[in-house]
Amino acid sequence: MISADLVVQNCRRLVTCRGPIPKRKASLQDVGPAEKVWMASSKGEIVFIGEEKDYRKSVRPERSAVRIDAGALVGLPGFVDSHTHLPFAGNRVEEFRLRLQGYSYQQLAAKGMGIQTTVKATRQATEPELLGLVLKRLDRMLLNGATTVEAKSGYGLNLRDEVKQLKVLREAARRHPVDIVPTFMGAHDIPKEYKTRKSAYINLLINKIIPEVSRRKLAEFFDIFCEEGVYSVEETRRLTEAAKRAGFKIRIHADEFSALGGAELAAEVGAASADHLISITEEGIRALSRSETAATLLPSVSFFLMLKKKAPARRLIAAGAALNLASDFNPGSSMVGSMLFVLQLGVYLLKMSIEEAINAVTANAAYALRRHESIGSLEVGKRLDMLLCDVPDYAFLVYELGFNPIRHIIKNGRVVVRDGRRV
Ligand code: NIG
Ligand code: FE
Repeated sequence: MISADLVVQNCRRLVTCRGPIPKRKASLQDVGPAEKVWMASSKGEIVFIGEEKDYRKSVRPERSAVRIDAGALVGLPGFVDSHTHLPFAGNRVEEFRLRLQGYSYQQLAAKGMGIQTTVKATRQATEPELLGLVLKRLDRMLLNGATTVEAKSGYGLNLRDEVKQLKVLREAARRHPVDIVPTFMGAHDIPKEYKTRKSAYINLLINKIIPEVSRRKLAEFFDIFCEEGVYSVEETRRLTEAAKRAGFKIRIHADEFSALGGAELAAEVGAASADHLISITEEGIRALSRSETAATLLPSVSFFLMLKKKAPARRLIAAGAALNLASDFNPGSSMVGSMLFVLQLGVYLLKMSIEEAINAVTANAAYALRRHESIGSLEVGKRLDMLLCDVPDYAFLVYELGFNPIRHIIKNGRVVVRDGRRV
């Protein structure tokens, strides 16, 4: 008999998103649906998924086991948000007002606003202040379905404040049930102090900050903004090679506003993911589709910046890219921390099918973080991270907007949201 400390009884309809992962092309249509499913977990690991009669034969719940009646609910894997700039201070509401008057995101950045506004606020914030902000955001993100969140530094742009952001993430991960995947993004912009001396900052990153963040094991990934006026393809190649030597896996902000060839570079350097891709070229699509590099699309950026241009999700899927969706949660280009909303935007803005979008916020998003062996789908041997929703069927997660249908959330085999409230 299999012992279990948590049982989900009789889930009316379950979306498993089971493998093989990453899902490409037509396999993105398969969300692995099942009906009247019983699930059991032990110490956070899924030990049983199947029919009631097999459950009765093979599982013996511990006396103190938690039982959840899911007879009226639809279950699916917890959402994985593979791209956020979570540890920021301050806000950019004044810049948002300027954008409403017609200024573009890049015009504001060129005036010294944009990322630099948030760098100033984040440098001024103390560690406890930043931690408070991060914990509050994690609660909201969890209530909107995210059970794992990647989070980048990149608003410090010096050793002290980059380390501060990453230490806050480490402490937040200790205190909060949502898993955090930390990314060092000291190459998010060029700090004001180095505006006319970019190569000196690049040398500082390579010779000092990258080795120090690596030595202190503060981040798993290295990320960089490869963009006109920020880091060129050549500079990105040099920095990612240095980061790889220091033991980091790579992610790249690629082809967001200008088609520099960031996607091709991401494939070339073996990045785990190339992100944004609003301006990706046909060559970029081909390069990504032939590679192991995930294509991470952030539809809330097009929405939040009110851009006509959207990332070419349909062409990427047709070519065979390992596509996933993330929030890019940040104060300037996507003040969006809801993965439920990102799932919906995948369908409404990027013309993905409901099934493609669900796989893109679960199984394939876990792949983009190279965590697909343990999360992103509901299969025996993986962690039990799941959402139980009060909807007639999973299509209603996209069909019905502006409400939160998520009733219960199980993270790592523990109930962390019950009846829509944090417990
Ligand atoms: O992913 N593109 C660069 N970085 C963020 C924006 C950060 C900010 O505006 O503060 C992004 O969109
Ligand atoms: Fe970003």
